[in-house]
Amino acid sequence: MIKSPTELLLKSPENTAKLAGRIGSVLQPGDCILLDGPIGAGKTHFARSVILSLLEHPEDVPSPTFTLVQTYETDGAEIWHADLYRLSHPDEVHELGLIDAFDTAICLVEWPEKMGPQAPPHALTVSFEPDPAEEDTRRVTLRWSDPKWTLKLDFLADD
Ligand SMILES: Nc1ncnc2c1ncn2[C@@H]1O[C@H](COP(=O)(O)OP(=O)(O)OP(=O)(O)O)[C@@H](O)[C@H]1O
Ligand SMILES: [Mg+2]
Repeated sequence: MIKSPTELLLKSPENTAKLAGRIGSVLQPGDCILLDGPIGAGKTHFARSVILSLLEHPEDVPSPTFTLVQTYETDGAEIWHADLYRLSHPDEVHELGLIDAFDTAICLVEWPEKMGPQAPPHALTVSFEPDPAEEDTRRVTLRWSDPKWTLKLDFLADD
C-alpha cells in the first residue's frame, strides 16, 4: 500500500506529463491538487498535462499567471487551474470563486501558500524540487491526509 509522503524521481518533462495523466485519470469533482515548488519547478507543466489528458478536444492551456484562474469543461467535471502567486490578499480566493470550486470542481492550485489556511484539508499536495545537478530532473513528493488518495494513487504501488 502506498503511504504519504511518497517520493518519485521524474527525469524529464515527459515523465512528469505521464504521472500527471495517470493522476488525472483518477480525479473527480471535489478533488484538489496543491502544486508546490519554486519558480520554474514544473507546476504549470504538471497542471497543463492533467488538463490536456482530460480534455476531449485539445485546446490552449495558458498559465494563469495574470488571470489567476483558468477554467475548463470536461466530460465528467469542470477543472479550475489557479496560480495564486499574484493574489493580493488571502480573502481574494473567495471573490475568485475558488473556495466554492473546491467542493464542485477538480482544482489544480499553484502557490497554494498564498491563500493561507484556506487550502482544503482533503487536498493532495504535489511538491516539485529541481535537481541542482540534472536540468530535467525533479524530485516530486506526494503528500495527503485524506485516505481517498491512498486508494486513488494505488497504481503507484505497482511501479
Ligand atoms: N522533469 C520535469 N518536470 C517538469 N518540468 C520540467 C522537467 N524538466 C524540465 N522541465 C521544464 O521546466 C519548466 C517548468 O516550467 P513551469 O512553468 O511548469 O514552472 P512553474 O513551477 O509553473 O513556475 P512558476 O512558479 O513560474 O509558475 C518547463 O519548461 C518544463 O519543460
Ligand atoms: Mg506556473
